[in-house]
Amino acid sequence: DAAEKGGFETFMLKEIHEQADAVADTIADRTVRPDGVDLPELDDELLRGATRLIIVACGTSYHAGLIGRYALEEWARIPVEMDVASEYRYRNPVVGPGDIVIGITQSGETLDTLAAMRLARERGATVIAVTNIMGSQATRDAHSTVYTRAGLEIGVAATKTFVAQVAVMYLLALRMAELRGTLTPERRTELVTRLKRIPHDIGVMLDKGSETIDRVAERHFEKEFFLYLGRHVGLPVSLEGALKLKEISYIATDAYAAGEMKHGPIALLDQDTPVVVVATDSPVLEKVISNIQEVKVRGAHVIAVATEGTDLGDNAEDTLRVPPTDWMLQPLLAVIPLQLLAYRIARLRGLNVDQPRNLAKTVTVE
Ligand code: AGP
Repeated sequence: DAAEKGGFETFMLKEIHEQADAVADTIADRTVRPDGVDLPELDDELLRGATRLIIVACGTSYHAGLIGRYALEEWARIPVEMDVASEYRYRNPVVGPGDIVIGITQSGETLDTLAAMRLARERGATVIAVTNIMGSQATRDAHSTVYTRAGLEIGVAATKTFVAQVAVMYLLALRMAELRGTLTPERRTELVTRLKRIPHDIGVMLDKGSETIDRVAERHFEKEFFLYLGRHVGLPVSLEGALKLKEISYIATDAYAAGEMKHGPIALLDQDTPVVVVATDSPVLEKVISNIQEVKVRGAHVIAVATEGTDLGDNAEDTLRVPPTDWMLQPLLAVIPLQLLAYRIARLRGLNVDQPRNLAKTVTVE
């Protein structure tokens, strides 16, 4: 058992530390050209001519899809719909020829995701699977498959498969942008260069460790509720951070678009509430800082995830720093402190992070 964990105390911690490799392996031979991405698994004509993309997934894979939606719309200028598979399959969706449906599932066996993919295929859509498992059912149900290369994930809480899925969504968005002529070669070069640097940045962050994360965990591990906020690509990162915390620590969490805060969740805040805000560099950072101020005025405790070198003023009690990168790529870095925070809190609560109660690694029932 100890050998399988490679010297780490749990599989989850080992897998968190494998994330630089998960991204590096996933992008490796697909980012050989400086100004573009190659995905030979997918038909160029299909990607060039698509009029709409629909992404279906569950849980963490759904969050990866949400990040993909921002990248696909921003870079490839294609409309993208996104739904949790268990909703999509039961709402008689309008889908058919001309649509590309992408099912994201690390296991390739999640029943709801498979059912949503099959429904779309029956109605004439082209179906692409994004999965980590060779030969899984999703690969058999789809017209084509793009593999993440995270290696086997044993911890029930998805970590390295998530960053690999996000990397695949970036690759797809860059490929489509090139085929559809929606990004200049200069911008594509910049993005490919930045993407290739991400594994290095993840490695540096993980090697350095973080006293701030340990301190925040010590201070808040007995709290009953955490609120997570984010905007744009920071929103799916917030959703994923909140899911990680509730899955392994059993602390109630809510994750919201920061701009929605004053439409309800702000009523939850009191002096005791830790509020995790994803505040990495982006064109919406000023808006996020205003949200942080609104939280602070209510006396809640702000834990910000911010880019190194960015000044958030004195609005956050604690700031978890991530290296700078292109703002669209920030999720690959910003999720890491949130995984570690959830991990530390769960360990302080004495819980089994690898096998949380009531959860299965693969959900093959409705
Ligand atoms: C992630 O931490 C969860 N265990 C869960 O939400 C998971 O992402 C979901 O069940 C989807 O699984 P899949 O990627 O294998 O389809």
